[in-house]
Amino acid sequence: MFNYLKKNNQIIDISKNSIYILVFVVLVIQIISTSMTNTKKFSIQAFLRNLLWGYAFYQIYYTKNILWLFVPIIFNILYNYLIHFKLKFKIQPYVTTEYLYNDFFEYVIKDNTNLNYYTEGSYGNLLNINTLDLSKKNVNKIMNWGEEQYNNAFLNKTIVDLNNKKIDVSNIANKGQEYKFKWIVDNLNINKNSRVLELGFGKLDLMKYIRDNTGAKIIGCNISKEHVDDAIKNGFKAYQVDHKNLDKHINKLGKFDIIITNGTLEYLENRDNINIYDKFMKNVNKLLNKGGKWYTTTIHYNKDYCILDKYLDVNYYNLYNLAEGNEGGYPKYPDGLTKYSKNNNLKVIKQENRWLDYYIYSIIWYCCYIKLYKKYNKLNLFIKNLNAYIASPNYLESYLCYTPFKNMYYYQPWLWQFIYKDGCVPTYHQWIIWEKI
Ligand SMILES: C[S@@+](CC[C@H](N)C(=O)[O-])C[C@H]1O[C@@H](n2cnc3c(N)ncnc32)[C@H](O)[C@@H]1O
Repeated sequence: MFNYLKKNNQIIDISKNSIYILVFVVLVIQIISTSMTNTKKFSIQAFLRNLLWGYAFYQIYYTKNILWLFVPIIFNILYNYLIHFKLKFKIQPYVTTEYLYNDFFEYVIKDNTNLNYYTEGSYGNLLNINTLDLSKKNVNKIMNWGEEQYNNAFLNKTIVDLNNKKIDVSNIANKGQEYKFKWIVDNLNINKNSRVLELGFGKLDLMKYIRDNTGAKIIGCNISKEHVDDAIKNGFKAYQVDHKNLDKHINKLGKFDIIITNGTLEYLENRDNINIYDKFMKNVNKLLNKGGKWYTTTIHYNKDYCILDKYLDVNYYNLYNLAEGNEGGYPKYPDGLTKYSKNNNLKVIKQENRWLDYYIYSIIWYCCYIKLYKKYNKLNLFIKNLNAYIASPNYLESYLCYTPFKNMYYYQPWLWQFIYKDGCVPTYHQWIIWEKI
């Protein structure tokens, strides 16, 4: 193979000295790029891939064959497949996730509060529909509506509700969260005497809502330093904690009446061999007072993603970017989490399938994003993203996972998981409340 390429001038030898220079230059570039991101973590996987970029540019310069550009991209896909997926090994777990939340989303959101929410709200009342009705008729109606609004947003057309009435997407985005926050406070009975812990909080909206509307004392934990600093700036007690290491922080955190994991347990299982959900629930049990409640909203995968064998291109493209652009995994529907309840002194007191709310949230989020994108300084955004790509191992996958493209409704990895097609949807989303017995 190498002889063949050499004969055809598609590959040229590289001297030892040139290799040293290449390694040095790539290292310096990556150190500078890393220091310019919010995350500031040096990634070894990104360094290996960047070395290949350097090597590919070297070959392109001498051979003029631009096919070399594919080498680093293919290397990264193979690396993810063989090392992460097959060997279930991560040199630096959650580095991609940290770049996703500290950098990618921070660049996208900027000061725009409509994009500030990382999880679904409750949209039934706002859109005059029943999001708990999973009949084919209701699901199809919502899916047709969503696809049309996604495509219309690119065409600058008016976004409408399911009765064809014009809607203000910013209002739906904000109000949908408020409805959910109220549901949480009511169903968990949060009051001024409650001690509340939110694990994996986002942009503080829920924590602020609970503090301001109930007077409860609320503490937060997150893996993202940006989020933790932001919480502290806003007067909350907050700690940088990886869900996986929760057991090391039990004494420091103390006991709680309420624990909330709102759309964050999706980042718990990260190619682990042990039963990570059981372990996590043991810690929840230790942190809860007797009679205390734990509320989670967590995506569950549905029957081996059920449509993987059909539409191979669509499904593997989406699944790959979803899995590698985020570092996580889902429990299996319906009881991937609840089956550990008894073991851990927990009793399920409420369980709802909120898949349609998550789908609607995603459509609204993309409509806001597409509208807002027109106002961005594109060059500035491109430079920031390129810089973060150099620093982060799977930034391209994160970018493809969350960025909407025109006419690519079925190739939008985040959305794909909620799209109902041929009688099947890859995931469901559950809201579950447990009580400690
Ligand atoms: C989808 S967002 C949800 C945020 C927030 N609960 C909300 O509703 O907007 C997931 C959050 O989990 C955090 N996260 C991801 N992996 C984590 C981990 N291993 N440990 C702790 N937090 C993590 C992320 O930084 C992010 O803030």
